Amino acid sequence: MNDYVRGSAWRVPVTACQPRPLSAFLSRNAQRRPASAIRSLLPLEQEPGMISLLAGKPNPATFPIEEIAVKVRLPDDASSPVVVAVTGDRLQKALQYGPTAGTPALVDWLAQLTSSLHGRPLPAQSSDSTKPWQLAVGNGSQDLIVKAFEVILDSGDTALLQSPTYPGVLPALCVGQVNTVAVESDEAGIRADALERMLARWDVDEKTSSLARPKLLYMVPTASNPTGTSTSLDRKRALLRLARKYDFLLFEDDPYYHLSFEEATPSLFALDGQDSDHDQGRVLRFESLSKVMSAGLRIGFVAGPSVLVDAINKYTATSHLQVSGVSQCVAIAVLEQMGHRGFLQHAARTADFYRRRRDAFERIAHEILRAEPPVAEWTSPGGGMFLWLRLLLPLNANTAEGDSFALISTQARRAGVLAVPGVAFLASSGGTSTYVRVSFSLIGEEDTAEAFRRLRRVILDL
Ligand SMILES: Cc1ncc(COP(=O)(O)O)c(C=O)c1O
Repeated sequence: MNDYVRGSAWRVPVTACQPRPLSAFLSRNAQRRPASAIRSLLPLEQEPGMISLLAGKPNPATFPIEEIAVKVRLPDDASSPVVVAVTGDRLQKALQYGPTAGTPALVDWLAQLTSSLHGRPLPAQSSDSTKPWQLAVGNGSQDLIVKAFEVILDSGDTALLQSPTYPGVLPALCVGQVNTVAVESDEAGIRADALERMLARWDVDEKTSSLARPKLLYMVPTASNPTGTSTSLDRKRALLRLARKYDFLLFEDDPYYHLSFEEATPSLFALDGQDSDHDQGRVLRFESLSKVMSAGLRIGFVAGPSVLVDAINKYTATSHLQVSGVSQCVAIAVLEQMGHRGFLQHAARTADFYRRRRDAFERIAHEILRAEPPVAEWTSPGGGMFLWLRLLLPLNANTAEGDSFALISTQARRAGVLAVPGVAFLASSGGTSTYVRVSFSLIGEEDTAEAFRRLRRVILDL
């Protein structure tokens, strides 16, 4: 067993660390997980001349589904939807067990898009001077993120989390008994300077000295959930430099990449590929079709170093085997109709849709929540679907700020408003928060005004 992966056993009494090979990042679970006896042989079925008696694939002649037809609105002409019918070989494959990493047509389409948007040569075209990477599809990005935590982190390991953080990642870290350390963020995203100070003092600071050095940093770089702010290019560069210096991985969770109202900066995945002098690549990039195509399809994807993506696939092969072939066939049917250009056009229109909603939402918030006496303040979100309101609450006896938890979970709910109290987004448990996350993705203007009036009333009644 490699000492690196033994959580708290890994102590390096110097400021910077020797980079370890990516395989040394794998958790004990990932290292001892046996390959699936059947799935690991499935690729051999594609070899010319091979006769397969392998898998317990049901005979598709017995399946009662004749066709899957999808009506697609294309961005060029949304008024005349096109019907795409999935039949024949494609249908049979969609209804059958399929490859663990995803349907090849979908994996290829997404890999080509990823390659062209992030300037990373396609895996098949990587040369010695480019870092090899690979893409796999999951049940939404959530599935892939949770699996990626599991294949990298052991109990007692440490994960850095952008704070405030997407609460969807917290239960997996809690169950895995992983130490979480918050890294603050502001209007320009995650504070690389604060992180650098923390890392330099890791072994001597009383908050961190008893913890294993971090194995990864999890962040949402674009239109972060919940704050709506994005991490600047300078900070991304600094984070990558720190990841190399202190030898940790970067988890770039970017489901709002296409929902930015501002010009997007290069991703960490793009920056990681840019200088080939540096090690083997240390960014795992998670994306999702949930926000731009359909959340119910449950299609997300991860791109990153092959060793790490392989470990995720191995987990999939022994858990739910693969993402639904039907979901994947619907997704690729729509994506092929659109093409990359059409998809990006659709995504840009979707961002514009949310930008207009944000404008209306903020206008109403301004009228109601900023009326005298003001009860909240906020930074305008640069993308996504959330406003992160700092409530101006009476000071709590124990904290420097007020605490929104009781107000939001009791009084506001009784008054007929649901929102998420800020405490849900804290990277480590036990704190308080004066913030609340409210979403503008669905709500109409009248309901928005009524919700803000109710919120204002309960705050003033305190
Ligand atoms: C930051 C972040 N990551 C991941 C997810 C999960 O998305 P998916 O639907 O792709 O699983 C969400 C969903 O809201 C999210 O906000």
